[in-house]
Amino acid sequence: MNTVLEVKDLSVAYARKGLALDGVCLAVPQGSIVALLGANGAGKTTLIRAISGLLSLHGGEVVAGDVLMQGQPVLGLPSHRLVRMGMAQVPEGRLVFKQLSVEENLEVGAAILPRSAVRERMDAVYQLFPRLLERRKQAAGWLSGGEQQMLALGRALVARPHLLLVDELSLGLAPLIVEAIYKQLRVVGETLGTSMLIVEQNAKLALEFAATAYVLERGRIVLSGPAAEVAASKAIHESYLGARREGAGKGRAVAVNEESNA
Ligand SMILES: Nc1ncnc2c1ncn2[C@@H]1O[C@H](COP(=O)(O)OP(=O)(O)OP(=O)(O)O)[C@@H](O)[C@H]1O
Ligand SMILES: [Mg+2]
Repeated sequence: MNTVLEVKDLSVAYARKGLALDGVCLAVPQGSIVALLGANGAGKTTLIRAISGLLSLHGGEVVAGDVLMQGQPVLGLPSHRLVRMGMAQVPEGRLVFKQLSVEENLEVGAAILPRSAVRERMDAVYQLFPRLLERRKQAAGWLSGGEQQMLALGRALVARPHLLLVDELSLGLAPLIVEAIYKQLRVVGETLGTSMLIVEQNAKLALEFAATAYVLERGRIVLSGPAAEVAASKAIHESYLGARREGAGKGRAVAVNEESNA
């Protein structure tokens, strides 16, 4: 199987701090959905930033390793180049342009498309998330959290990326909305063959959705494999899937390394 994204022995540091990532290896096969799990501060967002060329914006630096997209080294390339290579990102916190309308937000994502393709691609997004069509003239800042997440995804998807990076889709959203959004993402994967790297703190959800999963702890991958195997592993069960006596149930991640955030 072809590999869309390959992260090789990647180490990252932020100024005046120790390593935030330490020798991380990860692969996203063509057309597959990969989940990246880990507690607060594990380094998930840092990995997404390193892949998408945004690390330096945050005062971080790759100190070792490599990132390849479809076999081509991409470290150091500006993000507009990465977008043209087919990478798209939904950053942590969604970050839609609040003053712009829904449609204008999608136009930003569609900016790299030939003009003749824009309408059709925007319609495809509206089909995926009909709520956006109903609100297309509204300022994005007036949308609900779930709708803003749909818009952030729509803006990333409108250019039909080969590789979609999503950071914490579920954060702060009602479970039903999150489920509906993931369902639509699955449709995207199945119909367009989009490869995805999904960062999630909600391990239960991510392990249902993804084919493969990696678990980050304090900057290192401590577990990886087929999602079903990761889900069955004892460590994951105790730490992330609510198997502890108290608080068993909904599967919101329980931080295994909370002390590292101090
Ligand atoms: N801009 C920054 N400058 C300095 N240190 C940072 C910066 N961003 C993150 N870090 C540190 O790097 C480590 C990894 O953080 P990161 O945000 O990647 O974790 P995360 O897994 O995404 O956590 P969360 O689940 O809270 O989003 C943490 O110790 C964090 O404090
Ligand atoms: Mg994060």
